[in-house]
Amino acid sequence: MKFGIILGSTREGRVSPQVGEYIKEIAKQRNEHEFEIVDVKEFDLPFMGTGEPNLKWNETIKNLDGYIFITQEYNHGLSASLKNALDSAREEWFNKAAGIVSYGSGGGIRAAEQLRVILSEQKVASVRTNPAFNLFTDFENFTTFKPGDHMAAGVNDMLDELISWSEAFKTIR
Ligand SMILES: Cc1cc2nc3c(=O)[nH]c(=O)nc-3n(C[C@H](O)[C@H](O)[C@H](O)COP(=O)(O)O)c2cc1C
Repeated sequence: MKFGIILGSTREGRVSPQVGEYIKEIAKQRNEHEFEIVDVKEFDLPFMGTGEPNLKWNETIKNLDGYIFITQEYNHGLSASLKNALDSAREEWFNKAAGIVSYGSGGGIRAAEQLRVILSEQKVASVRTNPAFNLFTDFENFTTFKPGDHMAAGVNDMLDELISWSEAFKTIR
């Protein structure tokens, strides 16, 4: 199966690529399945309904068997860029599973919980384990990602759940 690690932030100076690469490294060590970074910023999506639909985005989402969302928290919510990316496709998301990785000054957990509700409307089932990174303890100067070694166990739990649910969803697509 092929999984997309979706970077939700498009902000100048964003830290999300560091978090995405960390998750990808842990996933690669399992030597099973493919994991690729899907960077929302690279797709330059118009605000939903204000321009031509970006067919490359829809095709990318369709071709993935499951997702890992890297979500940041702004003003107690998920980023507008990630919400727009979610709104910019429809059936392409359906009947897949997702893991949620969040970060922020409180672990980004409010953004993560909002994301679960949105995903359920797109027929994406989010797994229980949510690795949540804290800007004060898992980053240096709020910019350099340095998570403790103990965080890898939660990432692997999330991946275990994501892979088994994704196997199940394959049977109904
Ligand atoms: C406008 C703005 C609002 C923010 N609000 C929150 C917040 O409500 N809760 C939180 O935990 N972090 C908040 N943060 C901190 C961000 O989570 C942090 O800057 C993070 O690095 C953003 O992800 P990014 O660097 O990948 O864009 C906020 C940051 C910005 C720029």
